[in-house]
Amino acid sequence: MPDPKPDTEIHRTHLYGRRKGKRLRTRLRNALTHDLPLVRIDPDVVEQPCDPRTLFSEDITRIWLEIGFGGGEHLAKQAQSNPDVGFIGAEIFENGIAALLKQRTDAGFENIRILDSDAREFMPKLAENCLDRVFLLYPDPWPKAKHAKRRFVNQVTLDLLARVMTPGAELRIATDHPEYARWCLRQIPIHPAFHWDVSGPASWRHRPEDMISTRYEKKAIREERTPMYLNFFRASG
Ligand SMILES: C[S@@+](CC[C@H](N)C(=O)[O-])C[C@H]1O[C@@H](n2cnc3c(N)ncnc32)[C@H](O)[C@@H]1O
Repeated sequence: MPDPKPDTEIHRTHLYGRRKGKRLRTRLRNALTHDLPLVRIDPDVVEQPCDPRTLFSEDITRIWLEIGFGGGEHLAKQAQSNPDVGFIGAEIFENGIAALLKQRTDAGFENIRILDSDAREFMPKLAENCLDRVFLLYPDPWPKAKHAKRRFVNQVTLDLLARVMTPGAELRIATDHPEYARWCLRQIPIHPAFHWDVSGPASWRHRPEDMISTRYEKKAIREERTPMYLNFFRASG
């Protein structure tokens, strides 16, 4: 089955995927009510173009974005390990947002902001060259060819990312889905702004040292699927 061709055919405004899961326990519900407003990015009121450093305290000089953070365990760990980095976490799944908020309160880190809406809609509001790193970990694979246009990685979102990522910034993708990996390796290197950093099979087989296993990765490994780690970089100039 050939790849769906024209980029303009990609429907980037419709977001597939669930927003709510099982009923939240009181503490998680309270986190959404009381803590989310403290860290929520409201895409309708941010000043445009938005320099995301203005969303954080003055000692934050670099900004990393995680798209679809799920339960937030990777984002929480990165935020604690990199207190000088401001993290924007984008996720629409309410239970995942509540889980990240709980980790924030329990561990007491302040360097995260949460976008509880579609990352693709927010990126055009950001200033150019403002993101120093982007994580896309276990994106929904949409395995059927007829759903391929729903995949996050496509030429339209790559254009959006290319504009907001600084030259040399890393786009780190992990997937347990061989077709999604192949899809990325077809879509990303043909985009003029990105190149794949690969030195051999070890590059895609071994989890980067600074990355912890996410919930989806653990599930994949339990179910005997093999994770792949694909590191792309924003070209300079
Ligand atoms: C398969 S899950 C992976 C979650 C997590 N990264 C992990 O590895 O456990 C993909 C997540 O991406 C989120 N997502 C998908 N498209 C998104 C978008 N355009 N903006 C923000 N979140 C998105 C979904 O809600 C879902 O929670």
